[in-house]
Amino acid sequence: MTPPQPRVAVIGAGPSGLYAAASLLGSGLDSGISVDVIDRLPAPYGLVRYGVAPDHVKMKSVIRVLRKPFDLAEVSFLGNVRVGREPGVPFDELREHYHAVVYATGSTVDRTLGVPGEQLAGSLGSGEFVSWYCGHPDFVRLDPPLDHPGVAVVGAGNVALDVARVLAKSHEEMSSTDIPDPVLEALTHSRVRDAHVLIRRGPQHVRFTPAELRQIGELANADVIVHDDGLFAAGAIDIEQIDERRQRQNLEMLSAWAAKGTAGTGKPRRIHLRFLRSPVRLHGENGRVSSVVVERNEIVDGRVVGGGEQESLDVGLVVRAIGYAAEPIPGLPFDEATGTVPNEGGRVVRDGEPVPGVYVAGWIKRGPTGVIGTNKGDAAETVAALLADLPTLPEPKQPDRDMLLATLAGHGVQPVDWSDWLRLDAEEIRLGEVRGGAERVKVAELKEMLAVCRPAG
Ligand SMILES: Cc1cc2nc3c(=O)[nH]c(=O)nc-3n(C[C@H](O)[C@H](O)[C@H](O)COP(=O)(O)OP(=O)(O)OC[C@H]3O[C@@H](n4cnc5c(N)ncnc54)[C@H](O)[C@@H]3O)c2cc1C
Ligand SMILES: NC(=O)c1ccc[n+]([C@@H]2O[C@H](COP(=O)([O-])OP(=O)(O)OC[C@H]3O[C@@H](n4cnc5c(N)ncnc54)[C@H](OP(=O)(O)O)[C@@H]3O)[C@@H](O)[C@H]2O)c1
Repeated sequence: MTPPQPRVAVIGAGPSGLYAAASLLGSGLDSGISVDVIDRLPAPYGLVRYGVAPDHVKMKSVIRVLRKPFDLAEVSFLGNVRVGREPGVPFDELREHYHAVVYATGSTVDRTLGVPGEQLAGSLGSGEFVSWYCGHPDFVRLDPPLDHPGVAVVGAGNVALDVARVLAKSHEEMSSTDIPDPVLEALTHSRVRDAHVLIRRGPQHVRFTPAELRQIGELANADVIVHDDGLFAAGAIDIEQIDERRQRQNLEMLSAWAAKGTAGTGKPRRIHLRFLRSPVRLHGENGRVSSVVVERNEIVDGRVVGGGEQESLDVGLVVRAIGYAAEPIPGLPFDEATGTVPNEGGRVVRDGEPVPGVYVAGWIKRGPTGVIGTNKGDAAETVAALLADLPTLPEPKQPDRDMLLATLAGHGVQPVDWSDWLRLDAEEIRLGEVRGGAERVKVAELKEMLAVCRPAG
């Protein structure tokens, strides 16, 4: 008798979910394994589509690798299916259809600073702002205020650089990207001239990668201004003493820029890098941000401590690029402190015991750090745990595909399959040709995405 085919659901079609699917298919199980990759959006690829900066076109070519599992008959895409909350399908109902479930839903919640005024209009998390310029359907109507010359970007990671760079780029530089037409229009008419990147520690502590830092020094439209503040004076930092190559390269670049002074070369926009600076208060006029009060910090025993000296920057928009957390998943344990699902090597753990057949991969498993490739080994670890457990996992209560579709239909969910997505993919490529010089132009409105996916209805 043929043993029943193991059925696995991967929830989340971002890098970690797709690396998990690839790893499951490469697992060499004789009986074959069938994998449903489920995503709440009609489009796959998670942050590769909705996070990676639009001008990082080469980076997006990783999609060619990520899509490979869908070439196999054993892998299905079920887009437009939100798991865990309405509108969507509850986790416990979905669970009945599979031997095992891998959660790979990422970290989408913007962390907050906890300072007064943070709730004002014009104070945004990078998750919101980036999602808007990347054409995420949830943020089509964000309408970030770009009518003021000053913007503050808080944080010293690559996301802060992405945000500052996108704000500083010219129309010509952005029109060859995949940003939706209304975003291109808003950026083209932006009055932003000075983006102040507020870095809470010193130049030796930035988390930028050198390749990303270098890019802000190569912009057609913007100068980089490093505010020296004595931090780059001879002997202030001994570069030779810094072990990590990444930090040494960053410091060499920052020191060279600092040596040029703060006058710039007269380009129309400027990216200011301000070290040892934290926002302590946002002021507003008529309910929206009009300035940010910034305090100079000291580093005491490795801790960031406000030094008392404050200044006000005239800004109409504050973007926090200070990291993310995940949303708790109904029915699964959650660690509020780390914003992750407690797990051991990918096995979800409740009160010290593994939850049978439930796994996590990617940012929801380890937190919001690491580049796309980091998720490959991470997903492989999870899949190894799943495959080791598989012989002990009970048969699903509802193993049949029609039963799954009936469950989804019962919640009003009509999934988008891979061929539906390919229709949207082709339409976006066509729109890129219409714009001229862009590989694609994203369709951002959910209704429109679905209409393109399913032209008949
Ligand atoms: C702004 C930004 C820019 C970045 N740029 C780069 C870069 O240039 N290069 C690089 O190497 N790395 C970059 N990274 C890091 C990289 O994007 C991450 O390492 C990676 O995307 C994490 O993968 P993930 O699969 O865990 O999460 P995600 O990519 O977030 O994927 C999660 C998926 O789950 C889906 N989902 C969420 N909730 C549900 C639900 N309830 N039901 C069904 N589906 C759900 C989402 O729609 C999404 O498709 C960037 C990160 C950010 C935030
Ligand atoms: N091109 C790329 O390869 C690319 C692009 C984007 C993102 N990514 C990756 O995606 C991951 C997430 O990026 P990220 O930029 O969100 O995170 P990140 O690299 O962790 O950087 C977060 C930054 O926020 C700062 N911060 C945190 N809390 C703060 C607070 N309360 N006040 C002021 N500053 C605060 C941190 O400072 P401290 O250091 O002082 O804590 C740090 O500089 C990273 O691994 C990143 O490399 C890669």
